[in-house]
Amino acid sequence: MSNADLIAAAREAAEHAYAPYSDYQVGAALLFEDGSIITGSNVENASYGLALCAETVAVSRAFGEGRRGGLTTIAVVGPEDKGDGAPITPCGRCRQVLNELAQLGGTDPLVLCVGKTQVREVALSALLPHAFGPAHLD
Ligand code: THU
Repeated sequence: MSNADLIAAAREAAEHAYAPYSDYQVGAALLFEDGSIITGSNVENASYGLALCAETVAVSRAFGEGRRGGLTTIAVVGPEDKGDGAPITPCGRCRQVLNELAQLGGTDPLVLCVGKTQVREVALSALLPHAFGPAHLD
């Protein structure tokens, strides 16, 4: 599974986004140690503040399928025609949600933040330093 394949999966997921209010379609793809991929796209609501981000949807799907770790790589793709083309980065809440799944399995996933002409590769631990996680509750 190449980074390009994972980004393609995130891009495809973005096509299923339900984002009629922001018109900002996001797709996320999670790669696991066993080679499997779980995707998600953002889901908005007429009550605007209830929107679910693509990353959060993907993580909840992963938990729902019994995953409790093994997360190695994350790709996030936004619309190409919005903003200045800079790579999209997961929002603060999504960083925390991703961290839960990562820390459970003891991995520090690489996040592929996709922009118009550039993919920024950054460790989740760099996006969320000194993270609060499940180990704090042991
Ligand atoms: N969004 C995501 O899905 N992921 C992010 O990391 C940033 C924002 C969504 C939420 C909302 O539906 C739309 O993008 C605009 O904020």
